[in-house]
Amino acid sequence: MKNTAIEITNFSSRYGQQDVLQNISLTFSSKAITAIIGPSGCGKTTLLRSINRTAELEPGYSCTGNIHLFETSIFALDAYTVRRQAGMVFQTPVALPLNIRENILFAPRYYGLRRRALQDQLVESCLRKVGLWEEVKDRLQRPASHLSGGQKQRLAIARVLAVEPRVLLLDEPCSSLDPASTQQVEDTLRGLASELCVIIVTHNLAQARRIANEIVFILNGQLIEAGAAENIFSSPQQARTRDFVSGLFG
Ligand SMILES: Nc1ncnc2c1ncn2[C@@H]1O[C@H](COP(=O)(O)OP(=O)(O)O)[C@@H](O)[C@H]1O
Ligand SMILES: [Mg+2]
Repeated sequence: MKNTAIEITNFSSRYGQQDVLQNISLTFSSKAITAIIGPSGCGKTTLLRSINRTAELEPGYSCTGNIHLFETSIFALDAYTVRRQAGMVFQTPVALPLNIRENILFAPRYYGLRRRALQDQLVESCLRKVGLWEEVKDRLQRPASHLSGGQKQRLAIARVLAVEPRVLLLDEPCSSLDPASTQQVEDTLRGLASELCVIIVTHNLAQARRIANEIVFILNGQLIEAGAAENIFSSPQQARTRDFVSGLFG
């Protein structure tokens, strides 16, 4: 049975006069990894940023239709609550100019986490979830800027996890990473998918094949096809999907 985390209904968005997403209806499963694929400029980032209501921060952005997050319309919640429930990780690994421990505690402190023992627990559990604990446990007070790119990206994931989101949105999180770091991020996402809805935009079809349970294919702001990854890759229903996944265009 499909366990729906996000339901998008007749959703369209535009920047000024330019239509970007056109009448998209789609669901994302909880406890699964969904990869959003499609050529550059087709609207993948806008879709992710619509889900956590950060697209609204862009001048000229407007949208129609609805998005439900665990059965509540995101427009019925305040935007901060939505962004906390659906945390986002970006293409370029960003470490806050703080030590490793404070990177994790930045948002939880803001939300009122004061007790030292609870802070320690949270830092350790978040770092363990991204496979960083053993690597950094002896240097939690060192600047996060000293970490490698792959470590910074896993730290960025841990920082999002620290506020206990139900959805993790990742926008091409491995595009600046080497293969070994990419594999560590992929292993991390597999682990997180046992408890979260993980949605990853990727330009890398091999990565989508490796980690995605479900695939969403977008072209020119339209949803072309969505479904189980094995079906999309082995027996797509649409010719445009077949051409895209076989590398005919990108
Ligand atoms: N902040 C913005 N203001 C105006 N147009 C934008 C903005 N962000 C994206 N766009 C336009 O929206 C379209 C979709 O962009 P985007 O969602 O970034 O696509 P993708 O992530 O698939 O490459 C593109 O034509 C892009 O130029
Ligand atoms: Mg993008």
